[in-house]
Formats: sequence, structure tokens, C-alpha cells
Amino acid sequence: MNYTTYQKTDIEGIIELFQTTFANSEGEAEGKVIGAFAREMMETTPKEDLQVFIAKDGEKIVGGVMFSTLSLEDDKTAKLLSPMAVSTEVQGKGIGQGLINHALAVLKSEGVDIAVTYGDPNFYSKVGFAQISENIIKAPLPLSFPEGWLGQSLNDESLEAIPGQSGCVSALNNPELW
Ligand SMILES: CC(C)(COP(=O)(O)OP(=O)(O)OC[C@H]1O[C@@H](n2cnc3c(N)ncnc32)[C@H](O)[C@@H]1OP(=O)(O)O)[C@@H](O)C(=O)NCCC(=O)NCCS
Repeated sequence: MNYTTYQKTDIEGIIELFQTTFANSEGEAEGKVIGAFAREMMETTPKEDLQVFIAKDGEKIVGGVMFSTLSLEDDKTAKLLSPMAVSTEVQGKGIGQGLINHALAVLKSEGVDIAVTYGDPNFYSKVGFAQISENIIKAPLPLSFPEGWLGQSLNDESLEAIPGQSGCVSALNNPELW
């Protein structure tokens, strides 16, 4: 499995990956919503605020994960993981964890201090995320499932409370995603 950073030529394949994977797990309509969300992330987010990592099996894109800037009222830097998908037919083989671990190593090497995400604690706890309260980092929008607000430190310091609000990129600024 090759874990790498996406190229412009990968964009349509990544959208297809998100649409098909979520259609399989949550139905056709949700597949369309997440496919459109993945497109919006890549088309509207300024380059410096988005990193997309993919898992490739030969030429086939079988996994994708996006990290976008979460702005904080602090000099610490944070990235938010969303969305993420691994092709239905190769799920449960460690590709998701391998892809996130690759991405986190790149972010660490770039000096990013914190990674956060909003998802299933059972999966994301396998790659270092733990539940955080909004007293540690405020979510950018109201959370419908506060147990899914997760974070981890990427530097040598433990995650300490960061006062103030946080802000996400415009594609994520949609209450239906939260
Ligand atoms: C969730 C997902 C990204 C995990 O990728 P993966 O390559 O299948 O995961 P890995 O093989 O690295 O890890 C497997 C572990 O994750 C957990 N896991 C796998 N799929 C899961 C899911 N849909 N929900 C919760 N946990 C899941 C399992 O507990 C499994 O652990 P085990 O092997 O000890 O049983 C992938 O299954 C997927 O794309 N699912 C559909 C879309 C989705 O739910 N995306 C995440 C939304 S933020």
C-alpha cells in the first residue's frame, strides 16, 4: 500500500471514493452528500488550509483522508481530520489506520501542534485520538454528538485547554455535518 499526498489528477477519483464508500455504508443519498462535501473541500479550501492524503493500491485510490486548518485563538496550530473513507471491499485490513498514521507523521514533521476530529471514538482511538471536552478545545459549530469530539497532541506537550473560539474552513461550516 502506498500512502501519499494527492495530486490534482486524483481529485475525481477521491470524490468517487467518498461517494461510493458512504453510499455503501449509509445509503445512496448520504453517498451523494459526502461526495459533494469532499468536492467542496477540495474546490473551495485555500491550498495552505487543506492537506489530502490517499492510500493507493497500484493506480487505484482505496483510501482518503483530509486535514484542514482549525483556527484557534492561540499561537498553537491545529488541523481537523474530516472526511475519511476506505473502500468498502478493503476495509478492516489496517489501511485506515496506516493512512492516518502516515498523515499524522507528516503533520508532526511540519510542526502542527494538535489534531482533532469528530467521529467514532472506537476507530479513532486506535490512532491516538481521545475524547476531549469543549473546555479543552471549543468545536467550531454546535456538536450533535459531543462524545465524538476527539483530539491529540502532536508535539511533546500534553493537550491543555485553549481558551476562546475555534474556526473551520468554509466547506465544514455547515451545521448538518456536526
Ligand atoms: C472507518 C474506516 C475509515 C476505517 O478504515 P479501515 O481501513 O476499515 O480501518 P482499519 O482496518 O485500519 O481499522 C479497523 C478497526 O477500526 C474499527 N472500524 C472499522 N470500521 C469501522 C467503522 N465503520 N466504525 C467504527 N469502527 C470501525 C474496527 O474496530 C477495527 O478494529 P478491529 O480490527 O480491532 O476490529 C472505514 O471503515 C470506512 O471508510 N468506513 C465507512 C465510512 C466511514 O465511516 N468513514 C469515517 C467517517 S468520519
